[in-house]
Amino acid sequence: MSSVLLQALQTIVGESHVLSHGDLSAYERDWRGRMQGKALCVVKPRTTAEVVQVVKACAAAGVAIVPQGGNTSMVVGAVPDTSGTQVLLNLQRMNQLRALDKANLTLTAEAGCVLHHIQQAASDAGLLFPLSLASEGSCTIGGNLASNAGGTQVLRYGNARDLCLGLEVVTAQGEVWHGLSGLRKDNTGYDLRDIFIGSEGTLGIITAATLKLYPQPAAELTAWAAVPSMSAAVQLLGLAQQHLGAGLTGFEVMGQFALQLVNTHFPALHVPLWQTAAYCVLLSHSDTESETHGNAQLERLLEEALNQGCASDAVVANSLAQGRQLWQVRESISSAQAAEGLNIKHDISLPVSAIPDFVAHTDALLAKEVAGVRLVNFGHLGDGNLHYNVQCPAGTDASAFLATQEHRINTLVYDAVMKFSGSISAEHGVGSLKADTLHLYKDPVALQLMRSIKQALDPQNLMNPGRVLAVPSVAAQV
Ligand code: FAD
Ligand code: MLT
Ligand code: ZN
Repeated sequence: MSSVLLQALQTIVGESHVLSHGDLSAYERDWRGRMQGKALCVVKPRTTAEVVQVVKACAAAGVAIVPQGGNTSMVVGAVPDTSGTQVLLNLQRMNQLRALDKANLTLTAEAGCVLHHIQQAASDAGLLFPLSLASEGSCTIGGNLASNAGGTQVLRYGNARDLCLGLEVVTAQGEVWHGLSGLRKDNTGYDLRDIFIGSEGTLGIITAATLKLYPQPAAELTAWAAVPSMSAAVQLLGLAQQHLGAGLTGFEVMGQFALQLVNTHFPALHVPLWQTAAYCVLLSHSDTESETHGNAQLERLLEEALNQGCASDAVVANSLAQGRQLWQVRESISSAQAAEGLNIKHDISLPVSAIPDFVAHTDALLAKEVAGVRLVNFGHLGDGNLHYNVQCPAGTDASAFLATQEHRINTLVYDAVMKFSGSISAEHGVGSLKADTLHLYKDPVALQLMRSIKQALDPQNLMNPGRVLAVPSVAAQV
Protein backbone atom coordinates (compact mmCIF):
# COMPACT_ATOMS: atom_id res chain seq x y z
CA MET A 1 0.00 0.00 0.00
CA SER A 2 2.68 2.51 1.00
CA SER A 3 4.68 2.12 -2.25
CA VAL A 4 1.51 2.66 -4.31
CA LEU A 5 0.79 5.80 -2.31
CA LEU A 6 4.41 6.97 -2.66
CA GLN A 7 4.19 6.63 -6.41
CA ALA A 8 0.88 8.49 -6.50
CA LEU A 9 2.39 11.33 -4.44
CA GLN A 10 5.44 11.49 -6.72
CA THR A 11 3.14 11.80 -9.70
CA ILE A 12 1.23 14.64 -8.03
CA VAL A 13 4.11 16.86 -6.82
CA GLY A 14 7.08 15.54 -8.78
CA GLU A 15 9.59 12.92 -7.68
CA SER A 16 12.07 15.42 -6.24
CA HIS A 17 9.42 16.83 -3.90
CA VAL A 18 8.69 13.54 -2.16
CA LEU A 19 11.44 12.73 0.36
CA SER A 20 11.57 9.28 1.89
CA HIS A 21 15.27 8.55 2.39
CA GLY A 22 18.31 10.11 3.99
CA ASP A 23 18.43 12.49 6.90
CA LEU A 24 14.94 13.94 7.29
CA SER A 25 15.50 15.19 10.83
CA ALA A 26 14.85 18.81 9.82
CA TYR A 27 11.25 17.70 9.19
CA GLU A 28 10.91 14.83 11.65
CA ARG A 29 12.47 16.36 14.78
CA ASP A 30 10.72 19.19 16.61
CA TRP A 31 12.43 22.50 17.39
CA ARG A 32 12.73 21.76 21.11
CA GLY A 33 14.22 18.31 20.61
CA ARG A 34 11.31 16.72 22.45
CA MET A 35 10.34 14.31 19.66
CA GLN A 36 12.05 12.50 16.80
CA GLY A 37 9.30 11.10 14.60
CA LYS A 38 9.44 8.98 11.46
CA ALA A 39 7.41 9.92 8.39
CA LEU A 40 6.26 7.60 5.64
CA CYS A 41 7.52 10.44 3.45
CA VAL A 42 7.76 14.23 3.30
CA VAL A 43 5.62 15.73 0.53
CA LYS A 44 6.17 19.29 -0.66
CA PRO A 45 3.34 20.55 -2.87
CA ARG A 46 3.60 23.79 -4.81
CA THR A 47 -0.08 24.60 -5.43
CA THR A 48 -3.49 24.25 -3.81
CA ALA A 49 -4.45 21.85 -6.60
CA GLU A 50 -1.55 19.60 -5.61
CA VAL A 51 -2.60 19.73 -1.94
CA VAL A 52 -6.09 18.65 -3.02
CA GLN A 53 -4.69 15.63 -4.84
CA VAL A 54 -2.33 14.72 -1.99
CA VAL A 55 -5.19 14.83 0.52
CA LYS A 56 -7.42 12.74 -1.74
CA ALA A 57 -4.69 10.15 -2.29
CA CYS A 58 -3.98 9.89 1.45
CA ALA A 59 -7.70 9.70 2.30
CA ALA A 60 -8.19 6.91 -0.24
CA ALA A 61 -5.28 5.01 1.32
CA GLY A 62 -6.45 5.75 4.88
CA VAL A 63 -3.12 7.44 5.64
CA ALA A 64 -2.83 10.30 8.13
CA ILE A 65 -1.37 13.71 7.20
CA VAL A 66 0.73 15.94 9.45
CA PRO A 67 0.81 19.49 8.06
CA GLN A 68 4.03 21.41 8.62
CA GLY A 69 5.09 25.00 7.99
CA GLY A 70 8.36 26.15 9.55
CA ASN A 71 8.45 23.37 12.19
CA THR A 72 8.91 25.86 15.04
CA SER A 73 6.04 24.50 17.12
CA MET A 74 6.70 24.59 20.87
CA VAL A 75 4.21 21.78 21.55
CA VAL A 76 5.35 19.05 19.15
CA GLY A 77 2.54 19.87 16.73
CA ALA A 78 4.18 19.53 13.34
CA VAL A 79 6.25 16.35 13.33
CA PRO A 80 4.98 12.83 12.63
CA ASP A 81 4.68 10.14 15.27
CA THR A 82 7.20 7.30 15.32
CA SER A 83 5.06 4.80 13.39
CA GLY A 84 6.53 5.61 9.95
CA THR A 85 2.97 5.59 8.58
CA GLN A 86 2.12 9.31 8.47
CA VAL A 87 2.64 11.61 5.49
CA LEU A 88 4.32 14.86 6.42
CA LEU A 89 2.86 17.62 4.25
CA ASN A 90 5.37 20.47 4.25
CA LEU A 91 3.94 23.70 2.80
CA GLN A 92 7.14 25.73 2.44
CA ARG A 93 7.03 25.63 -1.38
CA MET A 94 3.66 27.38 -1.33
CA ASN A 95 5.30 30.73 -0.76
CA GLN A 96 3.75 33.20 -3.20
CA LEU A 97 2.22 36.54 -2.25
CA ARG A 98 -0.98 36.53 -4.25
CA ALA A 99 -2.21 40.10 -3.78
CA LEU A 100 -1.74 43.33 -1.86
CA ASP A 101 -4.68 45.75 -1.75
CA LYS A 102 -3.48 49.06 -0.34
CA ALA A 103 -6.91 50.67 -0.23
CA ASN A 104 -8.47 47.69 1.55
CA LEU A 105 -5.39 47.27 3.76
CA THR A 106 -5.10 43.56 2.99
CA LEU A 107 -2.47 41.14 1.77
CA THR A 108 -3.15 37.63 0.48
CA ALA A 109 -0.37 35.11 0.94
CA GLU A 110 0.10 31.39 0.50
CA ALA A 111 0.42 29.30 3.64
CA GLY A 112 4.15 28.58 3.26
CA CYS A 113 5.18 32.26 3.19
CA VAL A 114 7.67 32.93 5.95
CA LEU A 115 6.30 35.49 8.41
CA HIS A 116 9.28 37.81 8.00
CA HIS A 117 8.71 37.95 4.22
CA ILE A 118 5.11 38.99 4.78
CA GLN A 119 6.19 41.72 7.22
CA GLN A 120 8.73 42.86 4.62
CA ALA A 121 6.17 42.92 1.78
CA ALA A 122 3.84 45.03 3.91
CA SER A 123 6.68 47.35 4.85
CA ASP A 124 7.77 47.71 1.17
CA ALA A 125 4.23 48.96 0.50
CA GLY A 126 4.55 51.49 3.35
CA LEU A 127 2.26 49.40 5.58
CA LEU A 128 2.54 47.18 8.64
CA PHE A 129 1.75 43.52 9.25
CA PRO A 130 2.14 43.48 13.02
CA LEU A 131 2.38 39.76 13.88
CA SER A 132 5.84 39.43 15.41
CA LEU A 133 7.55 36.40 17.00
CA ALA A 134 11.15 35.45 17.69
CA SER A 135 10.70 32.61 15.17
CA GLU A 136 9.57 34.98 12.40
CA GLY A 137 12.59 34.18 10.21
CA SER A 138 11.39 30.59 9.76
CA CYS A 139 7.75 30.19 10.87
CA THR A 140 5.09 30.41 8.15
CA ILE A 141 1.79 32.23 8.01
CA GLY A 142 -0.03 28.88 7.65
CA GLY A 143 1.59 27.65 10.86
CA ASN A 144 0.90 30.98 12.57
CA LEU A 145 -2.78 30.76 11.76
CA ALA A 146 -3.07 27.03 12.45
CA SER A 147 -1.63 27.67 15.92
CA ASN A 148 -3.20 31.13 16.40
CA ALA A 149 0.21 32.53 17.27
CA GLY A 150 0.57 35.46 19.65
CA GLY A 151 3.96 37.11 19.99
CA THR A 152 5.04 40.56 21.05
CA GLN A 153 2.41 42.93 19.59
CA VAL A 154 -0.80 41.25 20.73
CA LEU A 155 -1.45 44.01 23.26
CA ARG A 156 -2.12 46.48 20.44
CA TYR A 157 -3.01 44.38 17.38
CA GLY A 158 -4.32 41.05 18.69
CA ASN A 159 -3.11 37.55 17.89
CA ALA A 160 -2.99 35.80 14.51
CA ARG A 161 -6.75 35.21 14.60
CA ASP A 162 -7.40 38.95 14.88
CA LEU A 163 -5.14 39.64 11.89
CA CYS A 164 -6.85 37.31 9.44
CA LEU A 165 -9.91 38.12 7.34
CA GLY A 166 -10.14 35.09 5.09
CA LEU A 167 -8.76 31.64 4.42
CA GLU A 168 -8.40 29.13 1.65
CA VAL A 169 -8.56 25.61 3.10
CA VAL A 170 -8.31 22.11 1.68
CA THR A 171 -10.71 19.99 3.70
CA ALA A 172 -10.06 16.47 4.95
CA GLN A 173 -12.07 15.23 1.94
CA GLY A 174 -9.88 17.14 -0.51
CA GLU A 175 -12.35 19.90 -1.31
CA VAL A 176 -11.32 23.56 -1.45
CA TRP A 177 -13.11 26.08 0.73
CA HIS A 178 -12.61 29.38 -1.13
CA GLY A 179 -12.83 31.70 1.84
CA LEU A 180 -10.24 34.31 0.87
CA SER A 181 -12.47 37.22 1.75
CA GLY A 182 -11.10 40.69 2.46
CA LEU A 183 -14.32 41.72 4.21
CA ARG A 184 -14.29 43.16 7.71
CA LYS A 185 -17.98 42.46 8.13
CA ASP A 186 -19.73 39.28 6.99
CA ASN A 187 -22.47 37.81 9.15
CA THR A 188 -23.60 35.02 6.87
CA GLY A 189 -23.58 32.14 9.31
CA TYR A 190 -21.03 30.19 11.31
CA ASP A 191 -17.52 31.62 11.23
CA LEU A 192 -15.61 28.86 9.44
CA ARG A 193 -12.43 30.93 9.46
CA ASP A 194 -12.37 30.91 13.24
CA ILE A 195 -12.87 27.14 13.31
CA PHE A 196 -9.78 26.52 11.20
CA ILE A 197 -7.65 29.16 12.94
CA GLY A 198 -6.07 27.54 16.00
CA SER A 199 -7.11 24.03 14.89
CA GLU A 200 -3.42 23.00 14.58
CA GLY A 201 -3.88 21.08 11.34
CA THR A 202 -6.51 18.76 12.85
CA LEU A 203 -9.41 19.90 10.65
CA GLY A 204 -7.90 20.75 7.26
CA ILE A 205 -4.96 22.30 5.44
CA ILE A 206 -4.71 26.09 5.26
CA THR A 207 -3.33 26.90 1.80
CA ALA A 208 -3.66 30.71 1.77
CA ALA A 209 -4.87 33.61 3.88
CA THR A 210 -6.01 37.19 3.51
CA LEU A 211 -4.41 39.27 6.23
CA LYS A 212 -5.08 42.68 7.74
CA LEU A 213 -2.52 45.43 7.25
CA TYR A 214 -2.15 48.66 9.22
CA PRO A 215 -0.65 52.08 8.59
CA GLN A 216 2.94 52.27 9.81
CA PRO A 217 3.43 54.34 12.97
CA ALA A 218 5.49 57.53 12.64
CA ALA A 219 8.03 56.25 15.17
CA GLU A 220 8.79 53.08 17.11
CA LEU A 221 10.42 53.52 20.48
CA THR A 222 11.71 51.05 22.99
CA ALA A 223 12.44 51.18 26.70
CA TRP A 224 13.93 48.75 29.20
CA ALA A 225 13.33 48.98 32.95
CA ALA A 226 14.56 47.05 35.97
CA VAL A 227 11.66 46.31 38.34
CA PRO A 228 11.86 44.96 41.88
CA SER A 229 8.99 42.46 41.71
CA MET A 230 6.21 41.05 39.55
CA SER A 231 3.69 43.30 41.25
CA ALA A 232 5.90 46.29 40.39
CA ALA A 233 5.90 45.08 36.76
CA VAL A 234 2.08 44.99 36.78
CA GLN A 235 2.02 48.48 38.33
CA LEU A 236 4.34 49.70 35.56
CA LEU A 237 2.05 48.13 32.95
CA GLY A 238 -0.88 50.13 34.35
CA LEU A 239 1.17 53.34 34.20
CA ALA A 240 2.28 52.58 30.63
CA GLN A 241 -1.34 52.03 29.57
CA GLN A 242 -2.32 55.36 31.13
CA HIS A 243 0.56 57.28 29.55
CA LEU A 244 0.73 55.65 26.12
CA GLY A 245 -2.81 54.41 25.48
CA ALA A 246 -3.07 52.56 22.16
CA GLY A 247 0.58 53.51 21.47
CA LEU A 248 1.70 50.77 23.86
CA THR A 249 2.30 47.90 21.43
CA GLY A 250 4.30 45.45 23.55
CA PHE A 251 5.01 44.92 27.23
CA GLU A 252 7.31 42.01 28.08
CA VAL A 253 8.58 40.81 31.44
CA MET A 254 11.81 38.83 31.93
CA GLY A 255 12.89 37.15 35.15
CA GLN A 256 16.49 37.42 36.30
CA PHE A 257 17.36 33.79 35.55
CA ALA A 258 15.94 34.05 32.00
CA LEU A 259 18.26 37.00 31.39
CA GLN A 260 21.18 35.24 33.05
CA LEU A 261 20.74 32.43 30.50
CA VAL A 262 20.93 34.93 27.62
CA ASN A 263 24.00 36.48 29.20
CA THR A 264 25.63 33.04 29.53
CA HIS A 265 24.78 31.58 26.13
CA PHE A 266 24.92 34.75 24.03
CA PRO A 267 27.72 36.77 25.65
CA ALA A 268 27.95 39.07 22.62
CA LEU A 269 24.49 40.44 23.44
CA HIS A 270 24.62 43.16 26.03
CA VAL A 271 21.91 42.41 28.61
CA PRO A 272 21.18 45.62 30.48
CA LEU A 273 20.45 45.87 34.21
CA TRP A 274 19.77 42.16 34.68
CA GLN A 275 21.89 41.79 37.80
CA THR A 276 20.17 44.70 39.54
CA ALA A 277 16.60 43.46 39.88
CA ALA A 278 14.31 40.44 40.12
CA TYR A 279 12.73 41.28 36.75
CA CYS A 280 13.25 43.53 33.77
CA VAL A 281 10.55 44.91 31.52
CA LEU A 282 10.81 45.69 27.82
CA LEU A 283 8.17 47.90 26.31
CA SER A 284 7.52 49.26 22.87
CA HIS A 285 5.66 52.39 21.98
CA SER A 286 4.39 53.21 18.50
CA ASP A 287 3.87 56.92 18.21
CA THR A 288 1.59 58.36 15.55
CA GLU A 289 3.21 61.86 15.66
CA SER A 290 7.01 61.73 15.77
CA GLU A 291 10.07 60.28 17.43
CA THR A 292 10.54 63.38 19.56
CA HIS A 293 6.94 63.24 20.75
CA GLY A 294 7.14 59.50 21.45
CA ASN A 295 10.40 59.80 23.34
CA ALA A 296 9.05 62.60 25.50
CA GLN A 297 6.05 60.44 26.41
CA LEU A 298 8.31 57.51 27.30
CA GLU A 299 10.60 59.72 29.40
CA ARG A 300 7.59 61.03 31.37
CA LEU A 301 6.32 57.49 31.93
CA LEU A 302 9.67 56.23 33.21
CA GLU A 303 10.17 59.25 35.45
CA GLU A 304 6.86 58.55 37.13
CA ALA A 305 7.68 54.83 37.41
CA LEU A 306 10.97 55.67 39.15
CA ASN A 307 9.17 58.13 41.47
CA GLN A 308 6.54 55.55 42.37
CA GLY A 309 9.19 52.88 42.97
CA CYS A 310 7.83 50.41 40.40
CA ALA A 311 11.08 50.76 38.45
CA SER A 312 14.53 50.97 39.98
CA ASP A 313 16.37 51.95 36.79
CA ALA A 314 15.46 52.43 33.13
CA VAL A 315 16.86 53.16 29.69
CA VAL A 316 15.20 54.46 26.53
CA ALA A 317 16.77 53.22 23.29
CA ASN A 318 18.40 56.16 21.54
CA SER A 319 18.07 54.70 18.05
CA LEU A 320 16.12 52.08 16.11
CA ALA A 321 19.26 49.92 16.11
CA GLN A 322 19.55 50.09 19.89
CA GLY A 323 15.87 49.27 20.20
CA ARG A 324 16.41 46.20 18.01
CA GLN A 325 19.33 45.10 20.22
CA LEU A 326 17.09 45.23 23.27
CA TRP A 327 14.47 43.16 21.47
CA GLN A 328 17.16 40.72 20.42
CA VAL A 329 17.93 40.06 24.08
CA ARG A 330 14.27 39.32 24.77
CA GLU A 331 13.91 37.17 21.65
CA SER A 332 16.96 35.09 22.51
CA ILE A 333 15.51 33.70 25.72
CA SER A 334 13.98 30.60 24.04
CA SER A 335 17.25 29.81 22.27
CA ALA A 336 19.25 30.39 25.46
CA GLN A 337 16.93 28.02 27.28
CA ALA A 338 17.36 25.43 24.52
CA ALA A 339 21.15 25.84 24.74
CA GLU A 340 20.96 25.24 28.51
CA GLY A 341 19.27 21.90 27.81
CA LEU A 342 15.91 20.15 27.61
CA ASN A 343 13.27 21.98 29.59
CA ILE A 344 9.62 22.13 30.56
CA LYS A 345 7.49 24.92 29.12
CA HIS A 346 4.30 26.29 30.60
CA ASP A 347 2.79 28.78 28.18
CA ILE A 348 0.02 30.02 30.44
CA SER A 349 -2.39 32.92 30.59
CA LEU A 350 -3.92 34.53 33.64
CA PRO A 351 -5.84 37.70 34.42
CA VAL A 352 -3.07 40.32 34.65
CA SER A 353 -4.31 41.22 38.12
CA ALA A 354 -3.72 37.63 39.33
CA ILE A 355 -0.16 37.31 38.03
CA PRO A 356 1.76 38.59 41.10
CA ASP A 357 -0.13 36.23 43.44
CA PHE A 358 0.17 33.31 41.00
CA VAL A 359 3.92 33.82 40.76
CA ALA A 360 4.42 34.16 44.53
CA HIS A 361 2.31 31.06 45.16
CA THR A 362 3.81 28.87 42.44
CA ASP A 363 7.45 29.95 42.90
CA ALA A 364 7.19 28.98 46.58
CA LEU A 365 5.39 25.72 45.80
CA LEU A 366 7.99 24.57 43.26
CA ALA A 367 10.90 25.60 45.48
CA LYS A 368 9.39 23.48 48.27
CA GLU A 369 8.41 20.46 46.15
CA VAL A 370 11.29 20.20 43.69
CA ALA A 371 14.65 20.97 45.23
CA GLY A 372 16.97 23.13 43.15
CA VAL A 373 14.50 23.69 40.31
CA ARG A 374 15.38 26.72 38.15
CA LEU A 375 12.50 28.90 36.95
CA VAL A 376 12.78 30.65 33.61
CA ASN A 377 9.86 33.03 33.96
CA PHE A 378 9.25 35.56 31.20
CA GLY A 379 6.59 36.50 28.70
CA HIS A 380 4.03 38.84 27.29
CA LEU A 381 2.86 40.43 30.55
CA GLY A 382 0.68 42.95 28.72
CA ASP A 383 -1.40 40.01 27.42
CA GLY A 384 -1.43 38.16 30.75
CA ASN A 385 0.75 35.49 29.12
CA LEU A 386 3.69 34.04 31.05
CA HIS A 387 6.21 31.50 29.83
CA TYR A 388 6.57 29.95 33.24
CA ASN A 389 9.27 27.54 32.18
CA VAL A 390 11.34 25.13 34.22
CA GLN A 391 14.96 24.06 33.87
CA CYS A 392 16.36 21.11 35.81
CA PRO A 393 18.58 21.76 38.85
CA ALA A 394 22.12 22.84 37.85
CA GLY A 395 24.45 19.94 37.21
CA THR A 396 21.69 17.31 36.88
CA ASP A 397 20.78 15.28 33.80
CA ALA A 398 17.93 17.05 31.98
CA SER A 399 16.45 13.91 30.34
CA ALA A 400 16.38 12.02 33.60
CA PHE A 401 14.87 15.04 35.36
CA LEU A 402 12.13 15.34 32.76
CA ALA A 403 11.39 11.61 32.88
CA THR A 404 10.81 11.65 36.63
CA GLN A 405 9.58 15.20 37.33
CA GLU A 406 7.79 16.62 34.29
CA HIS A 407 4.37 15.18 35.02
CA ARG A 408 4.52 16.20 38.66
CA ILE A 409 5.70 19.74 37.87
CA ASN A 410 3.04 20.14 35.21
CA THR A 411 0.37 19.10 37.69
CA LEU A 412 1.64 21.59 40.31
CA VAL A 413 1.79 24.45 37.81
CA TYR A 414 -1.47 23.74 35.95
CA ASP A 415 -3.42 23.23 39.19
CA ALA A 416 -2.13 26.63 40.28
CA VAL A 417 -3.13 28.10 36.90
CA MET A 418 -6.68 26.83 37.46
CA LYS A 419 -6.72 28.17 41.03
CA PHE A 420 -6.02 31.62 39.58
CA SER A 421 -8.56 31.26 36.70
CA GLY A 422 -6.05 30.88 33.88
CA SER A 423 -5.48 28.73 30.80
CA ILE A 424 -2.85 26.02 30.25
CA SER A 425 -2.11 27.24 26.73
CA ALA A 426 -1.98 30.93 25.90
CA GLU A 427 -0.39 31.05 22.46
CA HIS A 428 1.61 27.89 21.61
CA GLY A 429 -1.41 25.62 21.26
CA VAL A 430 -1.87 22.06 22.46
CA GLY A 431 -0.02 19.92 19.91
CA SER A 432 0.78 16.45 21.17
CA LEU A 433 2.62 17.64 24.28
CA LYS A 434 -0.53 18.93 25.98
CA ALA A 435 -3.15 16.73 24.33
CA ASP A 436 -3.37 14.40 27.33
CA THR A 437 -3.41 17.30 29.75
CA LEU A 438 -6.11 19.30 27.99
CA HIS A 439 -8.97 17.02 28.96
CA LEU A 440 -8.03 17.39 32.64
CA TYR A 441 -8.41 21.16 32.60
CA LYS A 442 -10.82 22.11 29.81
CA ASP A 443 -14.56 22.40 30.33
CA PRO A 444 -16.10 18.99 29.47
CA VAL A 445 -18.86 20.50 27.35
CA ALA A 446 -16.29 22.49 25.37
CA LEU A 447 -14.32 19.27 24.82
CA GLN A 448 -17.45 17.47 23.63
CA LEU A 449 -18.25 20.27 21.18
CA MET A 450 -14.66 20.14 19.90
CA ARG A 451 -14.92 16.36 19.37
CA SER A 452 -18.17 16.87 17.44
CA ILE A 453 -16.50 19.42 15.16
CA LYS A 454 -13.53 17.08 14.61
CA GLN A 455 -15.88 14.17 13.84
CA ALA A 456 -17.92 16.25 11.39
CA LEU A 457 -14.95 17.69 9.50
CA ASP A 458 -12.51 14.78 9.69
CA PRO A 459 -14.52 11.60 10.31
CA GLN A 460 -11.59 9.35 9.32
CA ASN A 461 -9.29 11.14 11.84
CA LEU A 462 -6.56 11.59 9.24
CA MET A 463 -5.75 15.26 9.86
CA ASN A 464 -2.89 15.51 12.37
CA PRO A 465 -4.31 12.76 14.61
CA GLY A 466 -3.43 12.77 18.28
CA ARG A 467 -2.93 16.54 18.32
CA VAL A 468 -5.21 18.82 20.38
CA LEU A 469 -7.75 16.08 21.09
CA ALA A 470 -6.10 12.88 22.28
CA VAL A 471 -7.75 10.63 19.69
CA PRO A 472 -5.10 8.17 18.50
CA SER A 473 -4.43 7.81 14.79
CA VAL A 474 -5.80 4.88 12.80
CA ALA A 475 -2.26 3.49 12.43
CA ALA A 476 -1.55 3.74 16.15
CA GLN A 477 -4.69 1.74 16.94
CA VAL A 478 -3.70 -1.32 14.89
P1 FAD B 1 4.68 24.54 12.50
O1 FAD B 1 5.50 24.44 13.72
O2 FAD B 1 5.20 23.92 11.28
O3 FAD B 1 3.21 23.99 12.81
C1 FAD B 1 2.47 24.44 13.90
C2 FAD B 1 1.10 23.73 13.92
O4 FAD B 1 0.33 24.16 12.81
C3 FAD B 1 1.20 22.22 13.77
O5 FAD B 1 0.13 21.64 14.46
C4 FAD B 1 1.02 21.98 12.27
O6 FAD B 1 0.50 20.71 11.98
C5 FAD B 1 0.05 23.08 11.91
N1 FAD B 1 0.20 23.63 10.56
C6 FAD B 1 1.30 24.21 10.04
N2 FAD B 1 1.03 24.69 8.81
C7 FAD B 1 -0.27 24.40 8.57
C8 FAD B 1 -1.14 24.64 7.47
N3 FAD B 1 -0.74 25.30 6.39
N4 FAD B 1 -2.41 24.18 7.55
C9 FAD B 1 -2.84 23.52 8.66
N5 FAD B 1 -2.07 23.28 9.71
C10 FAD B 1 -0.80 23.71 9.68
N6 FAD B 1 4.62 31.23 19.29
C11 FAD B 1 3.84 32.25 19.72
O7 FAD B 1 2.63 32.16 19.62
N7 FAD B 1 4.40 33.37 20.26
C12 FAD B 1 5.73 33.54 20.38
O8 FAD B 1 6.18 34.56 20.89
C13 FAD B 1 6.57 32.48 19.92
N8 FAD B 1 7.91 32.60 20.01
C14 FAD B 1 8.70 31.59 19.53
C15 FAD B 1 10.07 31.73 19.58
C16 FAD B 1 10.91 30.74 19.10
C17 FAD B 1 12.39 30.92 19.14
C18 FAD B 1 10.32 29.56 18.55
C19 FAD B 1 11.19 28.46 18.01
C20 FAD B 1 8.95 29.40 18.51
C21 FAD B 1 8.12 30.41 18.99
N9 FAD B 1 6.74 30.30 18.94
C22 FAD B 1 5.95 31.32 19.37
C23 FAD B 1 6.11 29.06 18.45
C24 FAD B 1 5.95 28.96 16.91
O9 FAD B 1 6.90 29.73 16.25
C25 FAD B 1 4.58 29.40 16.48
O10 FAD B 1 3.61 28.49 16.98
C26 FAD B 1 4.39 29.50 14.97
O11 FAD B 1 3.12 30.07 14.73
C27 FAD B 1 4.47 28.17 14.25
O12 FAD B 1 4.63 28.39 12.85
P2 FAD B 1 5.29 27.26 11.91
O13 FAD B 1 5.12 27.68 10.51
O14 FAD B 1 6.65 26.95 12.36
O15 FAD B 1 4.31 26.05 12.22
C1 MLT C 1 8.63 33.52 23.38
O1 MLT C 1 7.75 34.35 23.65
O2 MLT C 1 9.82 33.85 23.26
C2 MLT C 1 8.24 32.06 23.25
O3 MLT C 1 6.88 32.01 22.92
C3 MLT C 1 8.43 31.43 24.60
C4 MLT C 1 9.09 30.14 24.89
O4 MLT C 1 10.09 29.76 24.30
O5 MLT C 1 8.66 29.48 25.88
ZN1 ZN D 1 5.73 33.85 23.66
